Amino acid sequence: MASPLVRSRPVLSIGAALVLACSGCTRAPGAASADAGKVVVACGATEEWCAAMTSVFTSETGIPAEFVRLSSGEALARIKAGRADPEFDVWHGGPADGYAAAADDGLLQDYVSPNAATIPDRYKDRDGTWTGVYVGVLGFCDNTEVLAEKHVPAPTSWEGLLDPALRQNVGIAHPATSGTAYTALWTQVVLHRGADDEALAYMRRLHPNVLQYSKSGAAPAQQAARGEIGVGVVFSHDCVATREQGFTDLRVTFPAEGTGYEVGGVALVKGAHNVAGAKKYIDWALTPGAQEIGPTVHAYQAPTNPAAKRSDKTADLAALKLVDYDSTAAGARKLDLVRRFDAEIAKAPR
Ligand code: F6P
Repeated sequence: MASPLVRSRPVLSIGAALVLACSGCTRAPGAASADAGKVVVACGATEEWCAAMTSVFTSETGIPAEFVRLSSGEALARIKAGRADPEFDVWHGGPADGYAAAADDGLLQDYVSPNAATIPDRYKDRDGTWTGVYVGVLGFCDNTEVLAEKHVPAPTSWEGLLDPALRQNVGIAHPATSGTAYTALWTQVVLHRGADDEALAYMRRLHPNVLQYSKSGAAPAQQAARGEIGVGVVFSHDCVATREQGFTDLRVTFPAEGTGYEVGGVALVKGAHNVAGAKKYIDWALTPGAQEIGPTVHAYQAPTNPAAKRSDKTADLAALKLVDYDSTAAGARKLDLVRRFDAEIAKAPR
């Protein structure tokens, strides 16, 4: 389905956005000419935000856009699988370490958007492989009611998350699929002064407390909301958004040792069929207007463009103790760490 061209100024309605976008559609192999003009986006943000962004982009530029919502590891795998005939033109959203890993594998095309000049250096790749569009901070998403019922104190630190009283009461995604979970794993690497083995040893100690490793990073917020677990390790904005669905027992806290954060990226896929449209999409994604769409659909990451208005529901990065998170270094170690996590931890009995 090609998205219709909407040239009037958009009124952002979620329903309309969902109709205009096509989350199930992708470009069939070799279909470049039939699809001329359409921008196909691998989108790592929430489904609702992806729909809103592609819809507003189309409204403002007249360029049809479609998306597929994919967790970070899935996006990387799909972009890799399409190396010879790319399915996507742009990758938008999801932590930048996935982009760094993709760049190391030759899957992205450098593109320095003229609009990247306004984005602070710490939120973009120095070679122009990816540019940051938002920042999200890892936190704990507690279900206060569940913890109170079980008489388990809410963890206030990564060490506290290992409390045996939390056995099978913690939710976290699998870092092979989820950028959120990989951010948590790399946070342990940083907290253990770069020692992979010690970071994995921490995850091994956490393993008995984990009920299950979900595919998407935000899923543990839903599990906590349903009362299946007491604590989810998620990006804090996903806990805030889930709380807004009426789950008022949810509460966000941040671990005392310091927490990791993501720079959500945008990048041009190497060999993209629609390079011109993809560049326009990237230019647009860096504008204040594009970055202000998030809060209208309950996405409260911090914008990277300093001119974009921030929601008062966005975590105050300056007030938090953040680890020194280097997305490029994290990306370079991603495949190996994820492979080891899967072999040495995820499959181990609890
Ligand atoms: O739900 C939105 C979000 O938390 C983004 O901020 C983040 O980039 C993405 O999800 C990560 O998703 P996943 O962990 O499924 O790769």
